[in-house]
Amino acid sequence: MISRRSFITTSSLAIAGIGLSKHGFSSNPIQNNKFPIVISTWNHGLPANEAAWKILSKGGYSLDAVEAGVRVPEGDPKVITVGYGGIPDSEGKVTLDACIMDEKGRAGSVTYLQHIKHPISVARLVMEKTPHVMLSGKGAFEFARKNGFKKEKLLTPERKAAWKKWKKGKKKFSNEINIENHDTIGMLAIDKDGRMSGACTTSGMGYKMPGRVGDSPIIGAGLFVDGEIGGAAATGSGELVMKTLGTFLVVELMRNGMSPSRACEEAVKRIVKKIPDYEKYQIGYIALNKSGEYGSFCIQPGFNFAVKTEDKTDLEDAEAWLKKL
Ligand code: GLY
Repeated sequence: MISRRSFITTSSLAIAGIGLSKHGFSSNPIQNNKFPIVISTWNHGLPANEAAWKILSKGGYSLDAVEAGVRVPEGDPKVITVGYGGIPDSEGKVTLDACIMDEKGRAGSVTYLQHIKHPISVARLVMEKTPHVMLSGKGAFEFARKNGFKKEKLLTPERKAAWKKWKKGKKKFSNEINIENHDTIGMLAIDKDGRMSGACTTSGMGYKMPGRVGDSPIIGAGLFVDGEIGGAAATGSGELVMKTLGTFLVVELMRNGMSPSRACEEAVKRIVKKIPDYEKYQIGYIALNKSGEYGSFCIQPGFNFAVKTEDKTDLEDAEAWLKKL
């Protein structure tokens, strides 16, 4: 349950039509409990939100919506950090990570999945058909095949050419800031009946070490949803998110009464405090609480996120720590 303090605060702000910014509550106006709503990371979130909206606007389930939504960038060969079009690892293999959560706290995840275009749908089946939360590598692939998923070649000709060029060049392995290198899609939605679900999917860091798995399939790192409180999703250098269990932290801060924006800011501050060279990295958080109030925060300016409600279709810039200093 949302705390009484938070409920009173958000309710009175909603009535007054006010969204407080910096160091106050969310800079985003409250949705007056008008569901549905869907938010997702980066500008590839715009078409993803549209796909989710087709389900949400008809009164459909948020879990179906987030799955359908993130399948859009997963299937788009032009999106080079998610699914089919993803940048490979240093050996030229496209390995995918994804996870999904519903309003009851059920979760499913796949890591290091190869040859399957839609890891999010496999993650959902892990949640729904197995006693487990996470399947990895060969086991995840075999599970997908047994459940009717087609084996596909994921390395697109463009990504193969770029990888070959990378191999001939400096072969520099970098974990550092590169928006294009880390634009995971994370999506959070609340349906007409107030049910929140979330999804997160990525091909991970470009030219990563073979076997590397990032934050995106880790429940509480890349994604966390508590249907009674809210949800959060992360994008950026997964190692930093994993070391601070970022999205779990955001949801816990919201549980204690913080607005989504403030909670995202606090989770970024945790990284700033703990990781000495944080300035070299980008992390972006988005969060949505049970009332439909949303927020975001990031380390470097440049992170944006897509929002869709009955009244708006927006791409919004997240506030950045390095800009505030
Ligand atoms: N956030 C995506 C990754 O680091 O793999």
